[in-house]
Amino acid sequence: MTFTEDQVRRIEELKKLYQKPQAVVLTALWMWQETHGWISEEGMKAVADILGLPPHHVYGVVTFYTMFNKQPVGRHKIEVCTNVSCMLRNSEKILKHIEDRLDIKVGETTADGRFTLVEAECLGSCGTAPAAQIGEKYYENLDEHRIDAILDQLK
Ligand code: FES
Repeated sequence: MTFTEDQVRRIEELKKLYQKPQAVVLTALWMWQETHGWISEEGMKAVADILGLPPHHVYGVVTFYTMFNKQPVGRHKIEVCTNVSCMLRNSEKILKHIEDRLDIKVGETTADGRFTLVEAECLGSCGTAPAAQIGEKYYENLDEHRIDAILDQLK
């Protein structure tokens, strides 16, 4: 696995634009994840190679940001915020409800590869807690009924 020709071209343009390869790490990792679904060791090495950075630098970035998947995930990654505001508005109950409904625990993926469930830190939607992110979409003011309706719509 490697970057596509178009991705290589875009990364090279960004390297020229920013003049520091470190400034392109997040974008390159995101490109890799969009193509492959997660960031494997091979992916980290590919990013380090194309940017001329030491692999440990890329590893540090991947492990710092929760948006990067360190293992394969299902088609829909459900991230339920359990930070303070969401916790005070029953996010633990929602998390448990999803675990029971999908028959998985936090950090696991359903056998059909449809859903992965993870716990998230503050998603920045504290005023509309409890909140969750599924893929790139936010869902707010959640309760068990609402999350059921949302999950029903996801193929
Ligand atoms: S605490 Fe959940 S969105 Fe901020």
